[in-house]
Amino acid sequence: MKRVAVVSPKGGVGKTTVTVNLSVALHRAGHQVMVVDLDPQSALRFHFNLDLEHPGGLSRAAIDGTPWRDACVQSESGVVVLPFGEVGESEREQIELAIHHDPDWLLRHLQAMGLSQDAIVLLDTPPGASVYLRQALQVAHAALVVALPDAGSYATLPGMERLLQTYCAGRPDFVGSGYVINQMDASRQLARDVAGVLRQDLGERLAAVVHQDASVGEAVAFRRSIFDYAPHSLAAQDFATCVQWLQARFDTGTTWADPSAHSA
Ligand SMILES: Nc1ncnc2c1ncn2[C@@H]1O[C@H](COP(=O)(O)OP(=O)(O)OP(=O)(O)O)[C@@H](O)[C@H]1O
Ligand SMILES: [Mg+2]
Repeated sequence: MKRVAVVSPKGGVGKTTVTVNLSVALHRAGHQVMVVDLDPQSALRFHFNLDLEHPGGLSRAAIDGTPWRDACVQSESGVVVLPFGEVGESEREQIELAIHHDPDWLLRHLQAMGLSQDAIVLLDTPPGASVYLRQALQVAHAALVVALPDAGSYATLPGMERLLQTYCAGRPDFVGSGYVINQMDASRQLARDVAGVLRQDLGERLAAVVHQDASVGEAVAFRRSIFDYAPHSLAAQDFATCVQWLQARFDTGTTWADPSAHSA
């Protein structure tokens, strides 16, 4: 199992959008793909046209002590989806406290899924520091940081680099982190400038520049991936570039073994 964490210090930058579209592209490329929504907003399910009445998800499984396998949903796209699910505030606090005291929570549940060695698990995370982000980074073989080409996003990136250093760098099974500049509007000077600086800073760690494209939001409204809704759009091409970047990291010959140590 290859695990990819999709992360960002700031909210609303496109983590869930990136997670969904990469998962569909990877499934179409022939991989077994699972997405795990580690964000209590539980927004991932909207993208996959799941039955919204379905009460389950990993939060309910955490409360009831039931296996994740029973909470997964096979989506029309072929991607297996584990929604976060609906829980009240006090139950969410209870779950987060339990995760805080159980550093192997995520790895243990993923391993119990019995996925094939070549399966890819994409982990969607909430913005900024959280118990979910920490565990996602601790088990990730690769991390994708999503950022907007603006000054606010740029200013938060050193903090994300520190988290990557703490939880990922130095682990022998970690193949690397990359950045997705999302919602690029090339008609804006500031966006061009920030993207230019990031391109220079990041070099090969720039996984993709995804353009601002109305079809991205429209695809969500129709509960479809960009590859189903607008396969010839600019954004679809950009997400395909991102998949190529990820697959190149997969092909580096790394064994993708599970991390032996979880503390940084
Ligand atoms: N490339 C794009 N072009 C146009 N709109 C986009 C693009 N990427 C994302 N969006 C829109 O931006 C909004 C935020 O995206 P998304 O929910 O994926 O962000 P997020 O980082 O997961 O947010 P949160 O931090 O709340 O989890 C959505 O309305 C989405 O449709
Ligand atoms: Mg999100």
